[in-house]
Parts: sequence; C-alpha cells; structure tokens
Amino acid sequence: MKTMKKLLALTLAVLFVLTAFAGCGGKSSGNKLIMATNASFPPYEYKEGDAIVGIDAEIAAEIAKKLGMELEIKDTEFDSIIGGVQSGKFSMGMAGMTVTEDRLQSVNFSDTYAKGVQVIIVKEDSTIAGPDDLGDVMIGVQQSTTGHIYASGDYGEDHVTPYKTGNDAVQALVAGKVAAVIIDNEPAKSYVESNPGLKILDTAYAEEDYAICVAKENTDLLEKINAALAELKADGTVDSIVSKYIPA
Ligand code: ARG
Repeated sequence: MKTMKKLLALTLAVLFVLTAFAGCGGKSSGNKLIMATNASFPPYEYKEGDAIVGIDAEIAAEIAKKLGMELEIKDTEFDSIIGGVQSGKFSMGMAGMTVTEDRLQSVNFSDTYAKGVQVIIVKEDSTIAGPDDLGDVMIGVQQSTTGHIYASGDYGEDHVTPYKTGNDAVQALVAGKVAAVIIDNEPAKSYVESNPGLKILDTAYAEEDYAICVAKENTDLLEKINAALAELKADGTVDSIVSKYIPA
C-alpha cells in the first residue's frame, strides 16, 4: 500500500513537471511575434552593435506590446522576407517594404505606416541631373526592391546591377562601378551623410507606401496588427517614433 502511494505521488510529480514544461514551451513559441527584416536600411532598420534598431523595430515593439507578444527580430536578405512569411518561418515582414500589386499576389499587407520616395543618388560631380540621363549608364540597386523593379523596367535589365544591400549598392557608386543608385529617400539621406562626395537628385523617381506583410491565411494576425497600428497612429506613438529618427 505504501509503495503504491509512493508510486502514485511520483507519477503525479513527473506528470506535473512534464505538463509544466509542455505548457511553457507552447506558450513561448505561440506568443512570439517573429519579424523578418533586412537591417541595412537606416533609419527604418539598421544595426547598433548586435541590436537591430530603427523606426520599424520600434513600431514593431509597440505592436508586440499591444498584442501581448514577445517580439523577435530576424535579419535576413530582403528578397527572402516574403517567402519566409508565406512559409510561416516569420510571422510578419517589416522592412520599409513597399506595397505593390505584385507582392499582393503572395502576401497581405497591413495598413500603411509610412511613405517612401524612390530617389537617385549620384556622385557630387556627376553630369547626371535626372531620370532622363540614366539611359546609358549603369544603375546600382538593392536586389528585388522596387528600385530594382522600376530601374529594370525603365532602362532594361542590362543597365542595372543588383546588390545584396542598399549599402553595397552605395559602396559600388563610391567605387565608380555604377553611375547612380536608385533607392528609398530616407536611407539615401543616411547613406549620403556617411559617404562624402555623393548627392541626391531633386527629381523624385516614384512615391510609395510602406506596410507590414503577413501570410495570406493569417488574417487574424493581420487584423490585430491593423488594430494596434490604428491605436499607435491615433495616440501619436508612430509620429513620435518617426520624428525621433527623421527630425523635421
Ligand atoms: N521600399 C523598397 C521595397 O519595398 C525597399 C525596401 C528595402 N528594405 C530593406 N530593409 N532593405 O522594395
């Protein structure tokens, strides 16, 4: 009888520990908001030491807080964000990502939280004065971005060299391997600031909306993100994050 009781107590203890662990594991993975980004795109996302900081990182942190989830940011190639979101590897993609008809075939987008403008960066002494002068030169872009898509469409694939990051494209411009870079305006400003001898042309190339992408079937998360974003816009949180990184 005594051994039976002991055995029962032991079994219960083992079961307790097992369920506690199972509960814990289930909770942490189910409660994680995994954001994919490409952290070479200041001021939206960039690295400060090991940390990924920037407008997107901070807005995502506020969204996660509202959803009661733990935010985990994963740095990845820009062109693997959408695939990873589709496959469920990431809960969402947030990377100064432009809403396009083409991308909407693969993922859903949240309401937009920022505007982007595609601009042209050239060397200070360049004779290129606007989009009309790009026909005969080599243009650097970040692989699979809208800058890449527009430049290939307007000037032809053989006038465009894609690079892994925006910064790589800018370094190619500095080194004289390309004559211009087409990229989003805020990263452009930041690249020009940190690389003397470059300038941004006045003529904007294209205007676009940034939003968060979520897998098509994950409509529940999309609704929650939109609800959180609406609150964060209404109470001024989004504006204050943006103006912290982009002084007016
Ligand atoms: N807005 C452009 C696009 O969606 C460029 C985004 C690049 N983002 C990044 N984090 N590298 O194609």
